[in-house]
Amino acid sequence: MPYFSTLCVYFLMVLNSVMTNTITEEIDVLVFVPQNNSYLFSYTRVAPAIRYAQQRLKTDGGQYSGFHFNIQFENSDCANDALFLLVDRSCAHDKPDLILGPVCEYEAAAVVRLASHWNIPVISAGALAAGFSNKNTEYSHLTRIAPSYVKMAETFTAMFEHFTWKSALLVYEDDKEERNCYFTLEGVYHLMADFNIKTYAFSQGGRLDTDDILHNIYDIEVVIMCMGANNIREIMLAAHRRRLTDGNYIFFNVELFNASSYGNGSWKRGDEYDNDARQAYASLNTVTLLKTVKPEFENFSMEMKMSFKKAGFLDCEDCGTVNMFVEGFHDAILLYAIALHEAMKNGHSKKNGTEITSRMWNRTFEGIAGQVSMDDNGDRNGDFSLMAMTNVEAGTYEVVANYFGVNGTFQLLPAFNTDHFTLKGRYKAHAEKPAKSCGLGVSALTGVIVGAVLGSAMLIAFYFFRKNYRITIERRTQSEEHDTGKHRQLREDSIRSNLSAA
Ligand SMILES: *[C@@H]1O[C@H](CO)[C@@H](O)[C@H](O)[C@H]1NC(C)=O
Ligand SMILES: *[C@@H]1O[C@H](CO)[C@@H](O)[C@H](O)[C@H]1NC(C)=O
Ligand SMILES: *[C@@H]1O[C@H](CO)[C@@H](O)[C@H](O)[C@H]1NC(C)=O
Ligand SMILES: *[C@@H]1O[C@H](CO)[C@@H](O)[C@H](O)[C@H]1NC(C)=O
Ligand SMILES: *[C@@H]1O[C@H](CO)[C@@H](O)[C@H](O)[C@H]1NC(C)=O
Ligand SMILES: *[C@@H]1O[C@H](CO)[C@@H](O)[C@H](O)[C@H]1NC(C)=O
Ligand SMILES: *[C@@H]1O[C@H](CO)[C@@H](O)[C@H](O)[C@H]1NC(C)=O
Repeated sequence: MPYFSTLCVYFLMVLNSVMTNTITEEIDVLVFVPQNNSYLFSYTRVAPAIRYAQQRLKTDGGQYSGFHFNIQFENSDCANDALFLLVDRSCAHDKPDLILGPVCEYEAAAVVRLASHWNIPVISAGALAAGFSNKNTEYSHLTRIAPSYVKMAETFTAMFEHFTWKSALLVYEDDKEERNCYFTLEGVYHLMADFNIKTYAFSQGGRLDTDDILHNIYDIEVVIMCMGANNIREIMLAAHRRRLTDGNYIFFNVELFNASSYGNGSWKRGDEYDNDARQAYASLNTVTLLKTVKPEFENFSMEMKMSFKKAGFLDCEDCGTVNMFVEGFHDAILLYAIALHEAMKNGHSKKNGTEITSRMWNRTFEGIAGQVSMDDNGDRNGDFSLMAMTNVEAGTYEVVANYFGVNGTFQLLPAFNTDHFTLKGRYKAHAEKPAKSCGLGVSALTGVIVGAVLGSAMLIAFYFFRKNYRITIERRTQSEEHDTGKHRQLREDSIRSNLSAA
């Protein structure tokens, strides 16, 4: 009789599985996130999101409720910890079925290479650098669940095309460690090959030479910056003093993750420059992630807040907002479940990483904050917002436009003001160009000469750059497009070469 009832229960379970399409499977997940709470993707922030996703799959009784995730969290230090842990663990136990993280670029590069070699899918809400877009070989098993820097850069190409801007100066602060701003603007550089682009880097903590920076903008229309809020303010104040904020130039800063450092009041410091800063910021626009809200998200957001409190994590301003990383790691579990289910239904096992990875790509699913669309290269399409000061008297900002990566459209909102984005002096500046000289435009020719001079200056500067990191300037003109040398600095310094040089 006991035997019979066991059989009966078993039969019911099988029947239940068949009816609901449930597949039962144990999945070993290894998560690499830092314990250090100074990271926006620290264990304290990310772990509750992963557990929330796991719990939701389990309790909703749907087709994924048979998946049992054994989740192991390991520390990542944004250097080598994750790689060493993965190797050590895999020698002692079985290899994991899925890896989540790491977020930091250099650490992710090493882990993803090994995981791809071992046929293990990796989903990260980081690894945002342009170098990871090449999934042909070493990053073949990487799925990026948060929009990469190149996706962000699409916002700029869309704007440049829309407003027919042609040239930009990219100014960034480089910490030479995680290098977030370097990689952010590398994405812009990577995508904007058809525009005239100059770059200017300065080291973190070094003296900010605003004169030198502004000296570079005379033949430029748009300035795109990535750096700390105080440096942005210093540059904008200096630009204002030189009357560069009168509509002849358009300034942008890119701030993707840290919601508290942009928008309303970002110019305010309570010092004697507040008034000037407010006026200067009238020509400063911010590109940031689009915030989507759906009812389900409220519950998630509340639960995350409660977990932070429970962890005794009270002294942070941003805790109330679920950031891109938290959201991404939640959605990573959903995406993996969808892909694994589909793969297993088609007779593959969880160990076929290639198969599962390919099923995570080129698809759209409902994430915690809205629809998530993965492109056919395994990278998430991103939606971004453009914020501009709409009331100069009050110094308040509003979202004036949105960019949707999934269809590449730029949506102008009611607060949008075309005048604000129209370059005032552009016709004056462009009328000066003489027609031709030996088939090359004069400006192009000077571009090449200046390029060569800068090239040798760069070689010299590079020596210092290595030693104590000085300023580097690189110029790219449209006429040099076929000269691959122009890409050298940012490309060679990209993920791969940086690591192989190290
Ligand atoms: C956490 O990270 C910050 C910034 O990288 C660093 O200054 C701090 O020392 C770290 N804290 C610990 C406990 O490692
Ligand atoms: C966010 O920005 C604020 C203000 O600029 C800054 O104090 C804080 O350290 C930033 N947080 C992170 C995690 O970067
Ligand atoms: C979120 O939803 C769950 C299940 O519906 C519920 O038990 C929980 O109390 C909700 N949390 C909050 C903070 O509302
Ligand atoms: C994994 O799936 C692919 C089909 O996508 C198949 O060609 C390959 O043989 C499978 N590998 C293993 C180890 O089963
Ligand atoms: C992506 O999916 C669409 C349909 O959903 C299909 O037409 C297209 O061929 C797929 N692309 C790739 C590269 O697999
Ligand atoms: C800034 O403040 C204004 C007026 O209070 C408000 O309408 C606007 O939504 C705020 N913008 C942001 C980005 O918070
Ligand atoms: C593009 O996608 C967004 C978001 O999915 C949608 O709101 C918008 O209407 C789409 N635009 C076009 C032209 O399809």
